[in-house]
Amino acid sequence: MVNTQVDLSGLVLDNPVIPASGTFGFGYEFAELYDINILGSIALKGTTLDPRFGNPTPRIAECTEGLINSVGLQNPGVDKVISEELPKLKKVFHKKSVANVSGFSVESYAKTCEKLDKEEQIGLLEVNISCPNVQNGGMSFGTSAKSAAEVTKAVKAVTTKPVYMKLTPNVTDIAEIAAACAEAGADGISLINTMLGMRIDLKSKKPVIHNKMGGFSGPAIFPVAVRMVYQVYEAVDIPIIGMGGVSSAEDVIEMMLAGATGVEVGAANLVDPFASKKIIEALPAAMEKYGIHSLKEIIGGAH
Ligand code: SIN
Repeated sequence: MVNTQVDLSGLVLDNPVIPASGTFGFGYEFAELYDINILGSIALKGTTLDPRFGNPTPRIAECTEGLINSVGLQNPGVDKVISEELPKLKKVFHKKSVANVSGFSVESYAKTCEKLDKEEQIGLLEVNISCPNVQNGGMSFGTSAKSAAEVTKAVKAVTTKPVYMKLTPNVTDIAEIAAACAEAGADGISLINTMLGMRIDLKSKKPVIHNKMGGFSGPAIFPVAVRMVYQVYEAVDIPIIGMGGVSSAEDVIEMMLAGATGVEVGAANLVDPFASKKIIEALPAAMEKYGIHSLKEIIGGAH
């Protein structure tokens, strides 16, 4: 019998696999397809203080081995997430979830996190300072060590649950940003969010996406994500949730060898709604194939 259990700052998961924010709604939508309690946890749809309609369409561009999105943080706002979405999830998911929080000011990050911190269904706060699709928010906080640290400090000051800062790969030195978050009190680091990308339609000769650029995700970015998780593992002593193009049980193992404790599955859920389930079911055989008895033992094993 293999052991797939992992521990994210005291949040013990049956397995490291977590559907990534923005690819799994508020989770309960998938409960119609299978028993979502097999998941390690669920990273919920990105939540902001106020409701957001999101960006104008088209917001999606298909690419080889991935896709570009420019959703723009569409969500009902934190109060409705708490009053409407979490109760629906509670009926079908009996584990703790990961709240994913975005903001447009340090204060709005802190206020949103403070509200979600009071919810017993939430086991961990993933603070998204990496959304590439909004102006003066998201990624603008994650591209400087100083502002990343400011958001971290403000959130930590008003919360009790583990705080994981979700970082953008669209920087020169992601290890420096991760180290600044750790220094400011982050309990963990999530990485990577999407890479800025663009497609141009040959018929119209104009960008496919209304906002011109968006975030590229999917299997094509997996090697970049592994490289960055590896670099961040060397820079900080706090746990990492690795993500970016993870599509198989083997990818989960590779991400953990690079340094991840938890592993989020993103774009794969959009291609196949059963992707996270299939990965979890395939994990024991993949572990046996590579002589792994316990996943905990391989974290950072490639260093
Ligand atoms: C979006 O809603 O635009 C995607 C969220 C993100 O990339 O952080």
